[in-house]
Amino acid sequence: MRACATRRTTAWAVALMTVAVASTGNGQQPYRNPAPSVFEGAAREAWQKPELVVRALELHPGMVVVDLGAGSGFFTRRFAEAVGPTGKAIGLDVDPDMVAYMTADARERKLSNYEARLVKPDDAGLAPNTVDLIFLCDTYHLIGDRVAYFRRLKAALKPDRGRLVVVDFQPAAFPGSTHVMNPQVPQDELREAGYRLIKTDDFLPRQFFFVFVPAG
Ligand SMILES: C[S@@+](CC[C@H](N)C(=O)[O-])C[C@H]1O[C@@H](n2cnc3c(N)ncnc32)[C@H](O)[C@@H]1O
Repeated sequence: MRACATRRTTAWAVALMTVAVASTGNGQQPYRNPAPSVFEGAAREAWQKPELVVRALELHPGMVVVDLGAGSGFFTRRFAEAVGPTGKAIGLDVDPDMVAYMTADARERKLSNYEARLVKPDDAGLAPNTVDLIFLCDTYHLIGDRVAYFRRLKAALKPDRGRLVVVDFQPAAFPGSTHVMNPQVPQDELREAGYRLIKTDDFLPRQFFFVFVPAG
């Protein structure tokens, strides 16, 4: 049992290292992700707790939710189900293979409100005032020039109710990996980018969970 858990953890560590090889940390180079299956599966569900994450996001039918750096769409499909046919879940990624995987998955599951889009590393390509919630899981640390990026991204959030949620690995989850983040970093950077932290949660064993809104 313990060996199994170690293997699963190793799979994630290897996945993160694979991304590390492809990324310079400035977000300007193409990524080489692991196979989508690494981001999927029951093993991840045990520590990722997707149902708790979706519940904590307080999604409602009709909402527009963007999963930024969506990968295989592990969360995007769940968002599509949560916001229903009157809402929309949009999975954005810089990796065409992940976008193709999400597009096929949405079709297979007959989720017509689930769309996948290829984006540039420095531009999420979102129209102003169109999004209720922008969600990042294990992606924040991969984005380059973050203060400028998130300052621009703010315009996509709907006035008065738009939220930005950041989930990323705590340093203790993968000691020594560069694909973890000191939780203070997004708090400082996003304050500088013009956001206000309104909620933190500690129900995830490996990741922090922060909710921000545009400040003022
Ligand atoms: C570690 S994976 C996490 C995937 C997914 N969020 C999940 O939790 O399963 C990070 C993903 O972010 C994507 N990514 C990296 N930089 C990005 C950027 N600047 N804009 C959009 N996607 C990005 C990568 O291609 C990769 O699919």
